Amino acid sequence: MCGIVGYIGYREAYPIIIKGLKRLEYRGYDSAGVMLYDGESIKLSKTKGKVSDLEEKAQKEITTNGTIGIGHTRWATHGVPNDVNSHPHVSNSGDLVIIHNGIIENYAPLKVELIKRGYSFSSDTDSEVLINLIEEVQKKENLKLGKAVQVALNQVVGAYAIAVFDKKNPNEIVAARLGSPLAIGIGEGEYFIASDASPFIEYTSNAVYLEDGEMANIRLHRPMKVRKIKDDSIVDPYIQELQMNLEQIEKGGYDHFMLKEIYEQPSVIKDTYRGRLHANEGIIQMAGVEDNLEKFLNAERIIIVACGTSWHAGLVAEYVIEEFARIPVEVEYASEFRYRNPIINSKDVVIAISQSGETADTMAAIKLAKEHGAFVFGVCNVVGSSISRESHAGAYTHAGPEIGVASTKAFTTQITVLTMIALRLAKAKGTLTHSEFHMYLQELEIIPEKVKEALETNDKTKEIAGVFKDSPNCLYLGRGYNFPVALEGALKLKEISYIHAEGYPAAEMKHGPIALIDELMPVIVIAPKQGHYDKIVSNIQEIKSRSGKIIAVVTKGDTQVRELADYVIEIPETSDALSPLITTIPLQLLSYHIAVMRGCNVDQPRNLAKSVTVE
Ligand code: F6R
Repeated sequence: MCGIVGYIGYREAYPIIIKGLKRLEYRGYDSAGVMLYDGESIKLSKTKGKVSDLEEKAQKEITTNGTIGIGHTRWATHGVPNDVNSHPHVSNSGDLVIIHNGIIENYAPLKVELIKRGYSFSSDTDSEVLINLIEEVQKKENLKLGKAVQVALNQVVGAYAIAVFDKKNPNEIVAARLGSPLAIGIGEGEYFIASDASPFIEYTSNAVYLEDGEMANIRLHRPMKVRKIKDDSIVDPYIQELQMNLEQIEKGGYDHFMLKEIYEQPSVIKDTYRGRLHANEGIIQMAGVEDNLEKFLNAERIIIVACGTSWHAGLVAEYVIEEFARIPVEVEYASEFRYRNPIINSKDVVIAISQSGETADTMAAIKLAKEHGAFVFGVCNVVGSSISRESHAGAYTHAGPEIGVASTKAFTTQITVLTMIALRLAKAKGTLTHSEFHMYLQELEIIPEKVKEALETNDKTKEIAGVFKDSPNCLYLGRGYNFPVALEGALKLKEISYIHAEGYPAAEMKHGPIALIDELMPVIVIAPKQGHYDKIVSNIQEIKSRSGKIIAVVTKGDTQVRELADYVIEIPETSDALSPLITTIPLQLLSYHIAVMRGCNVDQPRNLAKSVTVE
């Protein structure tokens, strides 16, 4: 959570920082701030609210130019979102300035100690404690900034990505990371620091992603020095060529990133299977799986760990891996798994699913699994992310940057990767017949066309959104492969429109939730022709006889459900196992339109952040 940006070079820093913060707002957007050094003094502006609010305020407060600066967009952990708690934070002397993404867990005893030594604090943040700790170390031991940062970081417990500036030595920024991401862009005579590469993509395609426990001294006209925080050993940084382009991180004519990302799904699903799926030859090839095939085949079970939407993709994977490859699968919330003393052994394969690759709970679950000797396979979208690096092997989803906070294309591309894994394992184990295997490969190959067709439900979903936008509650029902889709549909609606929604396995409804149904309750039923069609028709009848309003997602040409439902959304036919890739599309669109009609901030829903790097 939180986005950080820094610049040191020859260009004006302020516009780079503001634009960069706007690109990082998906990481947090409850307050923002910027510091600029104009060659003489530190200029600071910070405010509760979004980066656009900061821009307005900074226009009045920062009237000089400078080529060094740092900025922050916040998702509050310690201290409510207000002007004072916003970053950057300045040390008591006024010389040191910090931006921080993460949590300093032992900030309370450190603060007590610093107060005893005469320090005072204006904010409630852990970050203000850290910058004063750095100052105390610097003064006491008469150290340069880099050394002082290093000594201080060795005293803290927690997670951080930081950038620190010292007015006394203004040609340098010190950056460090542990548990929160940090990328450094390397240009000609300039450096960029950011939580991801999006703030500097138009200036340089060379970047170093600091590893956990590393820090960098970034000085003007000098090569960057990277070292280990713990033992001071020098690291030769790996300079990566970025694959991201500007177009990918802009809205491209859509009103919102979420809508753009929904519409990107046909092409990104293709990107996901490109080079991996060869339907005509009957081949599925994924390097991470091929290289570790024995581990998968010898696994006594597969444990999937993930959070939120990625957890829903994991549930789909449970159905598909068990059905295709006949390997037992357990799906765990990473946050529960890590704290419940789970039984894990070296015969387990753990699949960690994460769009961002930075989710703290998923990361901790991986570490726990590794400690117990399990083989960890990461399914991530963000290349070079912490989870992808921490895993023994993995497969990227290649969905491109997902900026809308509500996950859409990440979900369908995760399902695509996981389905390919299931198919590959099924082939190796012979658990699908030759013709079944080929049928699924052919069907997966044409899924992007069917997703495109499913996007044509946009007008219909908009019309339905208009009818139900003011409903206080909503129920989503599905069976089998479409039970996780019901959960995902409900999550999408909750998070962006703030309507209370629940997803349920349709048959479970009569064990409780049926009591909620009356003429005011919209019930979205996912009822494609394949799967447990007859059973779900019975469930629809149960809802109808209690006057619930039925919105049914059905296969094109369906007549039976049409007679019962108040509204139908028609989608193209596909096999049951691949249906989540299609049925989820109208649900994404429905929640999008409802949120827009309710005047909600679709791309930046309240209280949320795109990557949850705190537990
Ligand atoms: C919901 C959503 C979240 C994420 C969850 C995990 O739309 O985006 O529920 O799915 O925070 O994030 P990742 O996949 O980055 O680990």
